[in-house]
Amino acid sequence: MAGKCPAHGNPVPFDDDFFFSPYPTYAALHNAGDAHRVCDVDESPQWIVTRYEDVRDGLRDARLARNPSYAGPDYPGDALPEDLLDACPLISDPPEYTRLRRFVNFAFIPRRVNALLPRIEEVVDGLLDSVAEDGKTDLMGSFASALPITIICDMLGVPTELRADFRTASEAMLTGTDEEAGAAFDPLVTMLGALIERRQAEPLDDLISHWSHWKQDDGSPALSFPELLSMSFFTLIAGFETTAGTLGNALAALLRQPEKIAELRADPSLYPEAVEELIRFDGSVQSGVRRFAVEDMEIGDCPVQAGDVVTLSLGAAARDPRRFPEPDELDFRRENKQHLGFGLGPHVCPGMELGRAQVRVALRSLFERFPDIRLAVPAEQLRWRHSNFIRVPQELPVIV
Ligand code: HEM
Repeated sequence: MAGKCPAHGNPVPFDDDFFFSPYPTYAALHNAGDAHRVCDVDESPQWIVTRYEDVRDGLRDARLARNPSYAGPDYPGDALPEDLLDACPLISDPPEYTRLRRFVNFAFIPRRVNALLPRIEEVVDGLLDSVAEDGKTDLMGSFASALPITIICDMLGVPTELRADFRTASEAMLTGTDEEAGAAFDPLVTMLGALIERRQAEPLDDLISHWSHWKQDDGSPALSFPELLSMSFFTLIAGFETTAGTLGNALAALLRQPEKIAELRADPSLYPEAVEELIRFDGSVQSGVRRFAVEDMEIGDCPVQAGDVVTLSLGAAARDPRRFPEPDELDFRRENKQHLGFGLGPHVCPGMELGRAQVRVALRSLFERFPDIRLAVPAEQLRWRHSNFIRVPQELPVIV
C-alpha cells in the first residue's frame, strides 16, 4: 500500500496505482482483516470495510448514520455548504430522510422510467451516428458521459442551451480536484436556482416542475426552496457520473477482453446478466457515501468508536473471494452476481433501473453497430480519475 499519513501513521491506500486499479489493494485488505484503519489523502482517518458481509450489514445498520452531526473531532468537515447538505436525502437519516426520500422515489416510479426507454435509444443512436462520422473517438466524452447527462437533464428539465455548462460543473463537483469542485459549485447552484424559479413560474412535465408544485394537505408547498435546490443538485450529481462511470468501466473491461464482446454478440440475451456482472466486476461507486458511527460498535473484529468515519467499500465487497469464487474473472454466467453496486437498505439507489437500462442499451447498440471496435491505445495507457468514491475512466480512445 502507498504511503503513511504523517499525522496519524495510518496507511494511505489512495495513490496512482490504486486509481488505475484498486483491486490489488482490496485483495491485500481482504487478506489483512475485517476492517482497516486508513487515512485519506487529506490525512483524515477512517475505517474502510471490505468484507462483503460486513459491507452488506453496514449498509443496513442504523448505527452508521449519514449526518455529519455524528462526526467526531477527526472529521475534516464537508466542502459543501450546510444548508444544501441539510436538505439532502443522501446524507440525512430518518425521520427527515423518510420524508425527503418520498420525493426522490416519485422520480423513479416504473411509469416514468419506462417512458424514458425510447428516449434512451434515440439518444444512443444519435450519439453513435456522430461516432460513426468521426471513426476515431474518445468514447468517454462522446458516448459514456454524453448519454447520462442528456437523460438526467431531460428528467430534471434542464434546457438544451444550459446542458454543456451543467455537464462541466457536475463532472468537476464529483471527481475534480478540490479547487475544480469549489469553482464549479457556485455556478451550478446559481443555474439550478434560476431553473427552479423558471419552473415555479411556468411548469412543464419535468421533475423540477413537479417537485416545485407539490403541495401538502393544507395547500402549502411540500418542499422549501433550499430543499428543491438540494434535491435537484443531488439528483443531478447522483445520476450522472455514476452511470457514466459504470458505462465507462464496462467498456474498458470489454475492450480489454474482446472475446467477451464476441460472447455478447453471439448471444444478445446475455446483456442483462452481463450488465450485472460488469457492475460487480468494476462498478463506478467504489465507496458508499461516508457514514459516522453513532455509538461504539464492532465491525468484524475492529473496535469502531462513536464519531468515527466508516467507508463501506462496495468495490472491495464485489471482489471478496468468500462471496464470489474467482472474483477477478469477468463471467457473465456466474451464478451469484448479487453485488452491492447500487447500495442496499434505506439509501439503496432509487435510479438503479434507469442506470441499468442506459448501460444495457448503450452496450448493445454500440457493439451491434461497430463489431470491429477496438482500443486506440494500449490498455496500460488508460487512466482513471483520481477519486476513491466514483471510478470513471478519464478517456477511452477507440477506433470503430
Ligand atoms: C449504473 C448507475 C448507478 C449506480 C452504480 C448507482 C449507485 C448508487 C449507490 C451505490 C447508491 C447508494 C450509496 C450509499 O448508500 O452510500 C446510490 C444512491 C443514489 N442514487 Fe444511484 N446509481 C446509479 C444511477 C443512478 C441514477 C440514474 C440516478 C438518478 C437519476 C441515481 C440517483 C441516486 C440517488 C438520488 C441516490 C441517493 C439515495 C438515498 O440516499 O436515499 N442513481 N446510487
